Amino acid sequence: MSKVVPLKWEKSELLILDQRKLPGKIVWIRARNHETVARAIESLAVRGAPVIGIAAAYGVALAAKSTRATEAGISDAIARLLKTRPTGYNLFSALERMKHVLEHANGKVSLLLEREARAIHKEDAEMCHAIAEHGVSLMKSGETVLTYCNTGALATGGIGTALGVIRLAHTRKILKEVFACETRPVGQGARLTIWECAQEKIPATLICDNMIASLLATGKIHRVFVGADRIARNGDTSNKIGTRGLAVLARDAGVPFHVVAPSTTFDTNLKSGAEIVIEERKPEEILRGTPGLEKVKGVRVWNPAFDVTPANYITSFITERGVLSPPF
Ligand code: MRU
Repeated sequence: MSKVVPLKWEKSELLILDQRKLPGKIVWIRARNHETVARAIESLAVRGAPVIGIAAAYGVALAAKSTRATEAGISDAIARLLKTRPTGYNLFSALERMKHVLEHANGKVSLLLEREARAIHKEDAEMCHAIAEHGVSLMKSGETVLTYCNTGALATGGIGTALGVIRLAHTRKILKEVFACETRPVGQGARLTIWECAQEKIPATLICDNMIASLLATGKIHRVFVGADRIARNGDTSNKIGTRGLAVLARDAGVPFHVVAPSTTFDTNLKSGAEIVIEERKPEEILRGTPGLEKVKGVRVWNPAFDVTPANYITSFITERGVLSPPF
């Protein structure tokens, strides 16, 4: 179990740990309806592909709890939640399950939807454990690893995916150290991964994203573990913007590059990464990193939230079902 919990389902309310406020403040958002959940997802108060799916499932359960809930109203809530973020597949796979329950419920809709949301949450926690075991089985004692973005307890229903492997390696005393990239522009690595590591006393060193090549050149990194937002049938993988560059640099340095994700992130409908929709976010996310820049008129900004790493850069996929090596 992790000390860090991003969501709590309490007395038919969803408590969401506001990740925008971390690491400075612990603030909980109390969601009583699906619209609050949808806004929390859009604003990154709750983020990370698996936990977005879990939060959205609870959002549907909240919609069903309303005294005036109708099947059409719950379907509208699902449609609203589906529009929150386009890239991560867990949102879509979780809402597909909720839709299936809604369509096949014979009465007791609210109870069944709540049960399904809890099941999605529990299964994700179980998958994290299985993933971590498979990931750790690849490691040797005393390894130093590099990770990107935040893929920990904050991003999942359990101990995390890539960071879950790192966490278990620490518990088993085979991890020497993890290097975490800052992950501009939103800072999931600096603000969230470093904070999570501090909670669990995992030895962690923060670097800026532009230090990756130099760090790899030192030869001290044994492997890279990253998460995923959506994986196409051919293994092309979308993850936080910057992951592709990291994969190219790892290949150049001869360092294994592992994608760590549950099966709920694999979108078998898509032939390749070219079909993945990449979310573009507001310019302010980049501009506010440079004080005063928001006041400069006419600054053009491109802010894709994710990129696609071609499958041929990926050494293996670590899932709850085992380790998948090429050919994928
Ligand atoms: O924009 P975010 O913070 O939701 O992006 C998160 C990532 O890209 C993670 O690496 C991914 O969702 C995997 S989380 C286990």
